[in-house]
Amino acid sequence: MASITIRNLDEETKQTLREYAAKNGRSMEEQVRLILGDVKKLSLLEPAQIFNPIATSPIHQQSEEKGAPPVNLKGKLILLVIGGGIAAYKCLDLIRRLRERGALVRPVMTNAAHEFVTPLSVSAIANDKVFSELFDRDDEHDIGHIRLSREADLIVVAPTTADLMAKMAQGHANDLASTVLMATDKPVLIAPAMNPKMWSHPATQRNIKLLHSDGIHFIGPNAGEMAESGEAGLGRMAEPLEIVSAIENLLLPKKIPQPLAGKRAIVTSGPTHEPIDPVRYIANRSSGKQGHAIAEALGQAGAEVILVSGPVDIPDPENCETINIQTAREMQQAVETALPADIAVMVAAVADWRTVNASDEKMKKENGKGPASLQLTENPDILKTLGHHKQRPQLLIGFAAETEALEEHAKAKLKSKNADWIIANDVSPEGGVMGGDKNTVKRLSKSGIEDWPKMDKSEVAQKLVNEIIKHFTVETLEI
Ligand code: CTP
Repeated sequence: MASITIRNLDEETKQTLREYAAKNGRSMEEQVRLILGDVKKLSLLEPAQIFNPIATSPIHQQSEEKGAPPVNLKGKLILLVIGGGIAAYKCLDLIRRLRERGALVRPVMTNAAHEFVTPLSVSAIANDKVFSELFDRDDEHDIGHIRLSREADLIVVAPTTADLMAKMAQGHANDLASTVLMATDKPVLIAPAMNPKMWSHPATQRNIKLLHSDGIHFIGPNAGEMAESGEAGLGRMAEPLEIVSAIENLLLPKKIPQPLAGKRAIVTSGPTHEPIDPVRYIANRSSGKQGHAIAEALGQAGAEVILVSGPVDIPDPENCETINIQTAREMQQAVETALPADIAVMVAAVADWRTVNASDEKMKKENGKGPASLQLTENPDILKTLGHHKQRPQLLIGFAAETEALEEHAKAKLKSKNADWIIANDVSPEGGVMGGDKNTVKRLSKSGIEDWPKMDKSEVAQKLVNEIIKHFTVETLEI
């Protein structure tokens, strides 16, 4: 393997190398290593292929990224804490890669880091000043360690030495780097780099566990040869581009698949309240948890969701348009106004009856006359109305709340309400479904009955939405 000692080069060569390395955002050692690698590969080429071995050789270009990188980190401020390890030289390349992607990089160096890379080169490549001292009057006046840690979108610690990890795990704050890490409310990504024996030491392994449980994100270390001759194993800092992609994973919004994008869904949820007088009403124990969870899961899958909700004590899902109503008739009106829709899931426990004439004034006890009798009339059946509507949603799903003969009643509802599926649940008080967090349901359709295991209501919602996605995927394939 070719090797070279930089300090043995003549001054002019050293200066040329220094300028060339700085231009490429590399340390001198890294640049030499690349050149030596190129020379090795050049020996395999025809002379005609060799023009300028440093700048234009096909080999040199192969070692670069293909094409210009996306400017996807534009406006993101990354606080880069550079620890004192031999891998600190890679930070120059890391900074360059981040800046190419539009990120602003603000460097903080530990005292030990100064031994491996100069603040001058870090500052030149970052195009920002280097912060190092906790008690530097100018720095503290200028920006202050709290602002340093809070203004950033992300803190990256590269390289993270065993000592820095120990400090972070124990909550030390005795220099600028550790103080910034303690004071931050932003995500922290560390790129550990150390000798393999130090990495596998029980103390470091304990600290790794602590840092994981504190929510610290890790990239690397990689396995490979160490700077120390003859040492190899887990401990090499991740390569700059690996660190960049970990940063992108943390900072860029995840592309969640939206299989129901373009579909419109109506969901009803919660109970209805049917007034008796201004202070009394007929209601039931529905909490709205199941209906709201379904609305939210449909929204997450990309559907446009109109949630028509009776009075509940849970928050409106953020990804739905929620229409709050009190009575069954208001619910029906809101549902019909929301048509047309591709999907309707009627989860609400709609009161079957309402009083014929709700009193405008609070009803009074009349001595000796016994309790007032309520004259009731049937509420409209919203699911049934939709089942026979000229704008019937393509996929119409109802629920069946039963306390006995579950399948039999659910089958009858599937038919009479002209639904595509009925999700049947046993709401006997001993099951704790009404108001509880768990649900055990069966899915009935014209093609049969499926038993679903006991799950959280959010899991039932997700499973139902998966079935809805499948339904539409199969339909699309058939067309
Ligand atoms: N439903 C409705 N409008 C009503 C009553 C029920 O839209 N007035 C819907 C519910 O949202 C549910 C399905 O119909 O999707 C079945 O509701 P459930 O309360 O189980 O049955 P009911 O139809 O009310 O019949 P019963 O009370 O006799 O069991």
